[in-house]
Amino acid sequence: MASRIYEWLDSRLKLKPVKETLLDEPIPGGASWIYVFGSATLFLFFLQAITGMFLAVYYAPTPDHAYDSVRYIETQVLFGAFVRGLHHWGASAMVVAIGLHMLQVFLYGAYKPPREAMWMVGVLLLLLTMGFAFTGYLLPWDQNAYWATQVGINMVGSVPFVGTFLVKVMRGGDMLGALTLSRFFAVHVLFLPAAIVVLVALHMFILRRVGPAGPWAGAFERRGKRGDPSMRQATPAGHVQAAPAEGRPSVERRAHRSEPFYPRQVFMDAVVMLGVFAVVAMLALTLSFPLTDKANPSDHSFIPVPEWYFLFYYQFLKYMEGPILGPIATWVLPGAFIALLLALPFLDRATDRAPSSRRMVLGIGALFLVGVFGLVGLSLHDLEAMKRSDPAVVSGKAVFEKFQCSTCHRIHGAGGAVGPDLSYVGDQRDRAWLIKHFRDPQSTSPGSIMPKFPLDEQQLSDLTAYMLSLKKGA
Ligand code: HEC
Repeated sequence: MASRIYEWLDSRLKLKPVKETLLDEPIPGGASWIYVFGSATLFLFFLQAITGMFLAVYYAPTPDHAYDSVRYIETQVLFGAFVRGLHHWGASAMVVAIGLHMLQVFLYGAYKPPREAMWMVGVLLLLLTMGFAFTGYLLPWDQNAYWATQVGINMVGSVPFVGTFLVKVMRGGDMLGALTLSRFFAVHVLFLPAAIVVLVALHMFILRRVGPAGPWAGAFERRGKRGDPSMRQATPAGHVQAAPAEGRPSVERRAHRSEPFYPRQVFMDAVVMLGVFAVVAMLALTLSFPLTDKANPSDHSFIPVPEWYFLFYYQFLKYMEGPILGPIATWVLPGAFIALLLALPFLDRATDRAPSSRRMVLGIGALFLVGVFGLVGLSLHDLEAMKRSDPAVVSGKAVFEKFQCSTCHRIHGAGGAVGPDLSYVGDQRDRAWLIKHFRDPQSTSPGSIMPKFPLDEQQLSDLTAYMLSLKKGA
């Protein structure tokens, strides 16, 4: 029956060439579990697209309703929490899948000629994914979303010449507000999806034109000698010719050692997709990621925490402060890193892809990973420490509000300008100084007009904890 339907369709739509294109693509060296990350990423992208469509049914992109609509999805909508969980953990899984995919391509030197364009499109896809992560983070409109986005926008503002302009474009106004939320939403659900679909198509188109890279020469040889029985004669030599990989074996030799995409690679990809879905679904069902309070633009004491995949960078920023190091961290290095990634195929010029002839490039890559994971470790350590001091900071903030310190002091743009700006007072004063100052401002600052407040010991201590928490990068 199925075959008769196929015959019928084929006689009209001429499906054979389509099948050849989709399923018979030769894989040099044969199918392998190491090639599954690209399709896992693609699968996760579809998962994000589908769950995102369902979330959009209930989500309302305005400051008045965004938070409540997400709460509604979370608590009232049938499977709402599950779908939101899939979207949340799916995003994390996508970052992991992209990381592994890039690592594989990097290790195998698969970005080398003739695949430079595929790599460069891949780097653009990575940037688009980060755009999704950044714009999506604001949408729940809770405190974390609001203040983390504020930090991100401020960083963009540090770019010379165009920074102010870019901030205007991102924010849509003078403040992070309604206009910002609706443009982040539009970018997240319309602009970026359109762009990513085009680039994914281009990525795949190039892949089909140049063919997959396959293992590096050494591994290639070994596999061949073992004479894997699953290897079959691949499709027409013309197809393989499109990939004169690194001037290596003749077309015939390569063809002998390749295997079509279907069935074994398709099977491996499918198994991994299923596994990925199982893991993401399990995370969505078991781990919660509660909303913080609704965004409060006047509460400057909130310390936002970014997603885990931005933690390394968040930590890095803490060490890079000041007029010179600051800009280096916020735009010089990120810009250089992206440029370096894009240019990688032209910088790593060794024609042999084998790791033994690319020690330097692989070494730099390894150092980079050690740095990233080291920073993540330090960041988790700091976050733990911060959690412990949290209650005092929270009540200290209440004391600050109770005594209306903001009539004279400004913190991150809100408050009066009679006294000094306290946004980063934690970097400038220590505990002893602050306590002495609060007991009697005249004692540390003779002639000060700051009043002596009737603070009890607890209030004094909490207020000081709060002041000390006001640090750069916190
Ligand atoms: C009437 C205005 C006024 C009010 C209200 C006020 N301050 Fe001040 N504050 C000042 C002035 C002026 C200075 C600078 C002189 C000094 O150091 O005392 C100052 C200095 C400070 C400093 C030292 C900053 C530095 O690094 O030099 C801190 C910390 C501070 N205030 C915290 C507070 C807190 C907390 C409150 C609320 C309990 C408060 N202030 C209320 C006017 C005020």
